[in-house]
Amino acid sequence: MVLQAIKYTPASGDGPASLEILDQLQIPHRTVYEPIKNCEDGFKAIKQMKVRGAPAIAIVAALTLAVELGTTYDGAQSAAEAKDHIIQRLEYLKTSRPTAVNLGDAVGKLSKIVTTAASSSATDSQAVVKEYIAAAERMLVDDVADNKAIGANGAKWIMENTEAGKSRASNAAQELSILTICNTGSLATAGYGTALGVIRSLHNAQCLTRAYASETRPYNQGSRLTAYELVHDNIPATLITDSMAGSIMAREGSNIAAVIVGADRVATNGDTANKIGTYSLAVLARHHGVKFLVAAPRTTVDRATASGEDIVIEERAGHEVTQVRGPQVIPEGGFGEPATVSTAAIGVDVWNPAFDVTPANLIDGIITEVGVVEKASGSLNFNFDSIFASM
Ligand code: MRU
Repeated sequence: MVLQAIKYTPASGDGPASLEILDQLQIPHRTVYEPIKNCEDGFKAIKQMKVRGAPAIAIVAALTLAVELGTTYDGAQSAAEAKDHIIQRLEYLKTSRPTAVNLGDAVGKLSKIVTTAASSSATDSQAVVKEYIAAAERMLVDDVADNKAIGANGAKWIMENTEAGKSRASNAAQELSILTICNTGSLATAGYGTALGVIRSLHNAQCLTRAYASETRPYNQGSRLTAYELVHDNIPATLITDSMAGSIMAREGSNIAAVIVGADRVATNGDTANKIGTYSLAVLARHHGVKFLVAAPRTTVDRATASGEDIVIEERAGHEVTQVRGPQVIPEGGFGEPATVSTAAIGVDVWNPAFDVTPANLIDGIITEVGVVEKASGSLNFNFDSIFASM
């Protein structure tokens, strides 16, 4: 069974398009798909993190509007009115979560497509809507292909540029492990994943000894989602709490070929916003001489953001830090109803930024679908001109 965060069926003779998302708040205990019928449903699912991960958020937002248009738009409007309506609905969806650039990037590209369609004198509103839906559907397909290319590029780089990779190439007994944070896999994308895609590719090439998944407090994407994917795919994996990362690097030494993380926004200089805790891993990796890599599609590089200082970091509710929620385990097996348990003193102040920024100088490479970008020798920053040349 393939793990699927997003289930989309295009319109056909059998009926209009439909969209369902896997409710990730219920993973790993239950597999429940939730129908998304309109932009309000999509907005809520993204905000509440029923669907999360930078690429998945963008794709769900785009498809949400495709589904809504397919069932509500009657075609009586002019092409210009259809374009205005689509842009206004996209702008609403864009406000659901601020840090991941993929959503803003998708909104920008889709807005441009409908603006171009509406400016052609031959088009009516139905043609504008049709162009929109086709573009949204392409995003779903393209993301899987991009992730597989990221996986292949990252695995090759690891084998050619890390101590463990180079030894492993000639000695199958050499251990080669990867440490990762958050969830960057099938559940965070249209399929396969970015950082987790590299882990999948190494595993498929029989080059991976073990993946270390960091729990990723406070929302536990590592223990709930990444561990779930790794177990599902039979990839040898060990779950650690975030505070154990330094100890595992000290214990494993060069057997850990790299820390590989995803990204929500990469600034023009390479500073990278990703799940809170990523920055600490980068500092630890530098101290232990472990390579630190970011895996992300080119859409995550935000050419309008000069450096990490300009990235808006989402702050979330304090209860995500002070409480844990999950079903009680029934002694005879299985799970009971979800319950919330407090793990903090009532009344304490909480700071809960969902992301942090890792400075470019701590990053060894950025793995994209068109290749791995490295800094020029002696430079503290990245230059992405080469990967955008073909766009
Ligand atoms: O808050 P989340 O779960 O949406 O955060 C997700 C991450 O930080 C991922 O690493 C990032 O979006 C890349 S997913 C391919």
